[in-house]
Amino acid sequence: MRKKIVAGNWKMNCTLPEGKKLASEVIHMVEDRVQNDAQVILIPPFIHLTGIYSLIGSVSNIYLGAQNCHQEREGAFTGEVSASMLVSAGASYVILGHSERREYFGETDELLAEKVKFVLDNNLTPIFCCGEKLETREAGDHENLVGQQVATALFELSEDEIKNVVIAYEPVWAIGTGKTASAEQAQEMHAFIRKQIAAKYSQEVAESISILYGGSVKPENAKEIFDQPDVDGGLIGGASLKSKDFVDIVKAFD
Ligand code: 13P
Repeated sequence: MRKKIVAGNWKMNCTLPEGKKLASEVIHMVEDRVQNDAQVILIPPFIHLTGIYSLIGSVSNIYLGAQNCHQEREGAFTGEVSASMLVSAGASYVILGHSERREYFGETDELLAEKVKFVLDNNLTPIFCCGEKLETREAGDHENLVGQQVATALFELSEDEIKNVVIAYEPVWAIGTGKTASAEQAQEMHAFIRKQIAAKYSQEVAESISILYGGSVKPENAKEIFDQPDVDGGLIGGASLKSKDFVDIVKAFD
């Protein structure tokens, strides 16, 4: 029931020609070489969405996502992008609450609760990010913090709504640092998140939600992480900018 997913978050990288080249390479390699049924999600900057969408065309198992969206339907919010705009540009997914948005743009779990609800109402699938900073892990408070992030942002949703959320656990200390969480650390936190969902909703709901790991996933470590029973795939940053590395990560599911 849980979907396997490998999502590439390009962050603020690639001009349009660079992005089109990267996407074309990934699409061709996935078509030719990937043997599994994992969903691949390309998540470029907003301005590249339509260009990349036209490249994906009808290739099965490859989807488009955005990196953020605003919580209001429309209006005087200069510089912002709405959920319906993302849908009209071809996006099926949207990352919400990435640690970089929390850190540099002050996004809180209360705001994220609004965004998650709003994008679900607009038929987009949120990829809700959670994860602790290094000092929180060192203080042994990581489960507490992640539990609170998940509860505040997601636990007002109905059972039917939360089933359509994808969660990404991204320990902040592992993002872009080359320092991956061990497979055991990832499994432990994913199992904890799933247990919280089961306690609040039901085992059936908890078993229907994909939980991705993010933070320095590379071709060399993807298989060990993806093999963990509660890890359903990855949210990939740096390695998603190199087509071969990204596709090798997708192939970890073969
Ligand atoms: P890296 O894979 O570069 O560590 O980034 C992870 C991430 O933030 C994906 O959203």
